[in-house]
Amino acid sequence: MPDWGDERTMQAGDALVLLRHDDCMAVLRDPRFTQWNMAQVERNPDIDPRFVARRRQAFLSMEGADHQRLRRLAMVALSPTEISRHRERMRAIMNRLIDRVLPAGRMEAVGEVIHHYPLPVICGVLGVPDKDIPFFAATATDWVKWMWGGPSAVPAALAAHDAMDAYMTDLIARREQDLGDDVISGLIRAELEGERLTRDEVIHTAASLIVPGLDTTFSTLGSALYLFTQHPDQWERLAADPSLLPGAVEEILRFAPVGPTLERIATDDAVINGLTLPKDTHVVLALATVNRDANLFPDPHRFDIQRNAQRLHMTFGGGRHTCLGLHMARAELQEALGCLSQRLARIELDGEVAWSAPLGFQGPRMMPVRFAAR
Ligand code: HEM
Repeated sequence: MPDWGDERTMQAGDALVLLRHDDCMAVLRDPRFTQWNMAQVERNPDIDPRFVARRRQAFLSMEGADHQRLRRLAMVALSPTEISRHRERMRAIMNRLIDRVLPAGRMEAVGEVIHHYPLPVICGVLGVPDKDIPFFAATATDWVKWMWGGPSAVPAALAAHDAMDAYMTDLIARREQDLGDDVISGLIRAELEGERLTRDEVIHTAASLIVPGLDTTFSTLGSALYLFTQHPDQWERLAADPSLLPGAVEEILRFAPVGPTLERIATDDAVINGLTLPKDTHVVLALATVNRDANLFPDPHRFDIQRNAQRLHMTFGGGRHTCLGLHMARAELQEALGCLSQRLARIELDGEVAWSAPLGFQGPRMMPVRFAAR
């Protein structure tokens, strides 16, 4: 018999779902709660221990002092000031994609434009040559499969990690001879100046900055475009006043979170805001529900690009694993929507939209639209 809970919690299978902002944030900030899917991998004797060891070197699965040190270094390289240097390139990439579809007046927005945007952007920021983009496209797909595909997806994921590490080892060795102003050069400099980053850490940090920013960004951009087909008045407002872009992006993130939940496991008995969570409790944080909390966002089911959603929505998570790429994601979304709204008028759906599977990142996977060129 399920426990339907109250306004605070709900039981779902083996998991306790937390529905309130303060409870979710308290769990994210508490070191006794760690990644649930990593715990499943570690406890499964059939999973290659090499995979477990490698995942322990990725930001999401790291904990403790090393995690904090690496985060601090990466945050410098991904600060708003550093990211702003890449905005022009973001616009150039999006405008090239739009040029290809503009004359037809219709496009399959995901396959022809949106899907091709985040990878060249992150490669540019990291200093990865454009010619290697196809390699990353293939590797990134296998890299993330273990998160939703279960143990059978692990061998492909391990091979993807190995391939990425081999690539990064080679690139970093070459870059060392010719440092630039990209993020990888920044990480190498940090390594050379003070032994703060070991060679392996540079490799793993660079590799784990590529994948988390791909499906998240492209899914959010797809959801954004879909939302504007449903709210043409707000599209016109955005086109007329680009100063609305930062607020519009926060509202899109709030309204259509790419990951509606985060999962954690209690590694010890814990009491969170008076709520007892015994060791091994599987906790699901309902970010999408928090993002629609009427106490935080009046009239929460209304999509409104002029609402001030920033800082309160939980789409970038919270606590010590808060998204490291949030400034970059915001800049990418702002620049992409800026270009699209300046160049495309009257966007309408032009056929059936195909959506992502229920597990995994949420957003359209195929979306035919028609439009008029401005
Ligand atoms: C709309 C776009 C994005 C969304 C919604 C998003 C969301 C998230 C969330 C919710 C987390 C925390 C996961 C958890 O606590 O379990 C996270 C972590 C992370 N994100 Fe993002 N992300 C986005 C884009 C990016 C980009 C562009 C990058 C790359 C530069 C990136 C890099 C990372 C990294 C490295 C982590 C792990 C941080 C850590 O564990 O310390 N993300 N992201």
